[in-house]
Amino acid sequence: MSGVNEIRSTFLDYFRKNGHEIVSSSPLVPRNDPTLMFTNAGMVQFKNVFTGLETRPYSTASTSQKVVRAGGKHNDLDNVGYTARHLTFFEMLGNFSFGDYFKERAIELAWNLVTKGFDLPKDRLLVTVYADDEEAATLWKKIAGFSDNKIIRIPTSDNFWQMGDTGPCGPCSEIFIDQGEHVWGGPPGSPEEDGDRFLEFWNLVFMQFEQTAPGERTPLPRPSIDTGMGLERMACILQGVSSVFETDLFKALIAATEDVVGAKAEGEQAASFRVIADHLRSSAFLIADGVLPSNEGRGYVLRRIMRRAMRHMQLLGAREPLMYKLLPALVGEMGRAYPELTRAEALVSETLKLEETKFRATLARGLSLLSEATETLDKGDSLDGETAFKLYDTYGFPLDLTQDALRARGIGVDLTGFNDAMQRQKAEARANWAGSGEKATESVWFELKEKFGATEFLGYDTESAEGVVQAILRDGGVVGDAKAGDTVLVVVSQTPFYGESGGQMGDTGIISSDNAKLQVTDTTKKGEGLFVHAATVLEGVLKTDEAVVLTVDHARRSKLRANHSATHLLHEALREVLGTHVAQKGSLVAPERLRFDVSHPKPMSVEELQKVEEMANAIILQNAPVTTRLMSVDDAIAEGAMALFGEKYGEEVRVVSMGTGLEGSKAGKPYSVELCGGTHVGATGDIGLVRIIGESAVGSGVRRVEAVTGEGARAYLAEQDERVKSLASMLKVQPADVLPRVEALVEERRKLEKELAEARRKLAMGGAQSGSASEVREVAGIKYLGKAVSGVEAKDLKGLVDEAKASLESGIVLLIAVSEDGKASAVTGVTADLTDKFSAVDLVRIAAAALGGKGGGGRPDMAQAGGPDGAKAAEAIEAVAAALAG
Ligand code: SER
Repeated sequence: MSGVNEIRSTFLDYFRKNGHEIVSSSPLVPRNDPTLMFTNAGMVQFKNVFTGLETRPYSTASTSQKVVRAGGKHNDLDNVGYTARHLTFFEMLGNFSFGDYFKERAIELAWNLVTKGFDLPKDRLLVTVYADDEEAATLWKKIAGFSDNKIIRIPTSDNFWQMGDTGPCGPCSEIFIDQGEHVWGGPPGSPEEDGDRFLEFWNLVFMQFEQTAPGERTPLPRPSIDTGMGLERMACILQGVSSVFETDLFKALIAATEDVVGAKAEGEQAASFRVIADHLRSSAFLIADGVLPSNEGRGYVLRRIMRRAMRHMQLLGAREPLMYKLLPALVGEMGRAYPELTRAEALVSETLKLEETKFRATLARGLSLLSEATETLDKGDSLDGETAFKLYDTYGFPLDLTQDALRARGIGVDLTGFNDAMQRQKAEARANWAGSGEKATESVWFELKEKFGATEFLGYDTESAEGVVQAILRDGGVVGDAKAGDTVLVVVSQTPFYGESGGQMGDTGIISSDNAKLQVTDTTKKGEGLFVHAATVLEGVLKTDEAVVLTVDHARRSKLRANHSATHLLHEALREVLGTHVAQKGSLVAPERLRFDVSHPKPMSVEELQKVEEMANAIILQNAPVTTRLMSVDDAIAEGAMALFGEKYGEEVRVVSMGTGLEGSKAGKPYSVELCGGTHVGATGDIGLVRIIGESAVGSGVRRVEAVTGEGARAYLAEQDERVKSLASMLKVQPADVLPRVEALVEERRKLEKELAEARRKLAMGGAQSGSASEVREVAGIKYLGKAVSGVEAKDLKGLVDEAKASLESGIVLLIAVSEDGKASAVTGVTADLTDKFSAVDLVRIAAAALGGKGGGGRPDMAQAGGPDGAKAAEAIEAVAAALAG
């Protein structure tokens, strides 16, 4: 029997021996492809290699790729737990040819691995081909010796593979195994094909086209190969089990779940265990790759997956957050193959716990609402949309969680009703907000937006442009003109001024017309698409409908660009140095400095920060051009993919890349690739230099890095340098010798302080041996030294009392130190031979009372107390003498 880890290495070794480059898995969040929600196949990281946009030093490759199929085009979420083979997260083993071999060699390689490497019995194997792909059918006959009944021709999209609505694609041929009559199901293409008997485990795609838009395909420069084998499915076959959930890895996860919830994976509840095991994997890997739960885009898909698992935890009887307790089992199984999982363990654990805690707060109430609302429903009925919406809106139940909860009972959800309720809520929210006092201004923006449409932003390409004034606002209302001295908000048809967003501050500069000149102090974005210039009229009168010239403050914008680009470089460097769990949690790009918040569980070390800074500066030195690609996102892109970009990115997505990786996984590849709407330098060298000036905590699991660039960094370093020079001249040494000199000074100071304390002590005790005969008196036959000392700190009194006791040999000591503000500290000492007669504690209390204090404590031979009235030291000494006299 082969464990999952062995199967993975057998596969990769086989292709290595057959001349393939072994490439590591790319992250689940595609760094080079903003059109995809998640990496959904092994070929995603090679997309541009297939289309010829990018070349690599190899023409064949093999990978074991992390894949998530939830949300977006390939979505298996609903099936998980209820079939034997669907997973949201799985590992896809693949081999790729980029214009190297094609169909024949691909089939040959696959056939040999399956029948010789994995030793699968030929008579249980069969394949599908795309209906009109005669060539593939003939090759299967030739290579595998299959007869026609083993080659099933499929005319549907099942045998035409596409990554997404755009991208490389082609006809495919899938390899199936017959798991035997004891499993229900029919061969592909038959009415029973959805059963699990015939299990597809390897898909060979004959990559021939690039889909550029729905329905539009162009041939690829060179036909290529992309194959994908489900690792978990192969494990299932080799381990002789009929469900992926019975393979070694899943058994371990399910056993861990049994332990944690204290229930068995049997009967009706078995499905819950399966859902939890799968969702644990997808959640953990997504978080490890930088996705955090949120209410939009990828974060929302993650939240849906997590909450679904958490509801199943509840079904199994969980009464507190438990998901995170399963993490060690997962890391134990998969951490070696995917070190990023081990690195992110703390972050994943924290994130799971937090989400489950939050969700549990409403889960029980939501579930009881759900069961009330569905009490009278039967199989085939639907839950009303209103209730489903309430569950979503008030109780945090994503729609698919509600659907999942009702699935076992055969009850659906009225989706139209749900969407109507959602729309209604949006409309109401808008109406409320339009009517209410101070927010009235906000509604103005929407009216202007509806009237004029969005402002066209020209600032990526130019810092100066012409536009027409569409609206002038003063004190929250629209006015027709503005004159010298007025502070106004101005909307222009188009502008080169960047409106504050994505952390980058808005631009400042000048707007001028034939008759007026305005100083722009800030630019913001309002009403989803309007750029609003906050300005003061310096001279003349500005009128609506006038043509104006808008000029951005070039120096300030240059600094903003440098800081923004540096933020991207630091982001990538932080991911490389700290791990890919590092996700951006916020940023501020100001002209003077930049601030970048990331998820990271602990303070960064000096070495880590140094490394990050070095890496970022190495890319700056490359002086590589910064490239921006603007991609239009077709309306036809599935709803899921649109959500990925959120409203923030609109319908066009900008992808900013800079630099070439020097080492590690990024070697030779674009260094930083980010979706970003900000403005950037032309080439990395324009940043000049980046210097990290601070690292601190901003919340649990979030660290803040602050840095300066260019002239700011130079000025910062110059200032530091000046400091060192002033120090050097003050210390009369060379700058290089400042440190040893200061060290010597500190040492000297320590010594002097010690000597000073000693001298003070001597002075205090009368310059002679403490307890010199002259100050010791006899009270009722007992030697008593009572003395107020000056210049001695309270903490030194005990030592002095000890010395005095030693020199008296037998007797009682009371020392009182009076501080500068007149407060007294008193310490009493009783030599051992007298402790049965006198207690130092009693005596010090007497002294304390005389000093206006209360209490005092210690041992019979030494005690201390204090009092506010230092001037009464003499009284205290006499009070103790009196006590001794009895
Ligand atoms: N891209 C194909 C699939 O995902 C083969 O790797 O099935």
